[in-house]
Amino acid sequence: MSTETINPRDPQDPRDPRAKGHTLQGAGGFMRSGKVRDLFDVGGGAADGRLLLVASDRLSAFDVVLPTPIPDKGRVLTGLSRFWFAETRDIIPNHLLGTSPNDLPKDFTDAAGKAELKGRMMLCRKAKVLPVEVIVRGYVAGSGWKDYKRTGSICGIELPAGLRESDRLPEPIFTPSTKEEVGHDQNIGFDAMVELVGGPVAEKVREVALALYRRGAEVAERAGILVADTKFELGTAVDTGELILIDEVMTPDSSRFWDAADYEPGRAQDSFDKQPVRDWLERQPWDKTYPGPELPAEIVADTRRRYIAAFERITEARFDRYLQEDVIAS
Ligand SMILES: Nc1ncnc2c1ncn2[C@@H]1O[C@H](COP(=O)(O)OP(=O)(O)O)[C@@H](O)[C@H]1O
Ligand SMILES: [Mg+2]
Repeated sequence: MSTETINPRDPQDPRDPRAKGHTLQGAGGFMRSGKVRDLFDVGGGAADGRLLLVASDRLSAFDVVLPTPIPDKGRVLTGLSRFWFAETRDIIPNHLLGTSPNDLPKDFTDAAGKAELKGRMMLCRKAKVLPVEVIVRGYVAGSGWKDYKRTGSICGIELPAGLRESDRLPEPIFTPSTKEEVGHDQNIGFDAMVELVGGPVAEKVREVALALYRRGAEVAERAGILVADTKFELGTAVDTGELILIDEVMTPDSSRFWDAADYEPGRAQDSFDKQPVRDWLERQPWDKTYPGPELPAEIVADTRRRYIAAFERITEARFDRYLQEDVIAS
């Protein structure tokens, strides 16, 4: 089957952990590995192609996939995405078809493979991915802060004067960027997005993205987590052609999560999940190219705890129960 609907971002460096290939027992149909997910084609014909997304425990920092996995991180990402897909179904349909290994073709993998898939898989409708990163910002951070300091606006959107780093914006803003195969994605204005996908799609995507962000930020804030910004991916379903929400949704990997308890505008904020890794990496004699250093056990344990805390606070469900029963419930 053609894989041209998928944007290829295969590892270029043999020291990238992804170069070793996926670890799913006996599974066929492997297509490629993103930084975090392994993608499999599970057939169904070109028209109604189904895609298996398996979230691994890989962690990337400073654009490098590190050699040390964070146990169950992929399950946190899949569990949170499942939660958000359910919470946002009224805003936009999504790609999720199934989450049980038993939803897969009978001979897809063996018992060990199924155990590995539990909690980390999403069986999905295949989409033609829109060629833009759908980013919404509720706070001034990262490249938005850099942009604001230089121009007083973010991605061409005029903002009030005098905002400090990490300040909350008067209203969330939609700031799309390109998807670059190599190097950093480039922020683009809304007009540039219109050039890429056309006016009606760009308008619809902006409306949906802002509604998704508002819903997510509200739910997370109740749990004491601020969603500073987040990236969605949308695509057109290959079966019906409708616009759908794909990939992962409002996870610590696709969003800047801040702990509301520590929030203090006027400086950069700690990231809720990856801060121990970032701080430790900054102390290493490492030039941020492949291969990244192996992480010490205490950094792994600390990071794992933080990912799980994000899951439990946002979903109000127990992660040990998710692991055992594959349900998101308290
Ligand atoms: N329903 C879908 N149809 C086609 N492609 C998808 C779908 N959902 C997610 N993807 C793609 O699968 C990949 C997910 O793997 P990931 O490791 O997150 O990649 P990346 O390194 O690009 O972040 C992304 O390239 C994403 O665009
Ligand atoms: Mg991704």
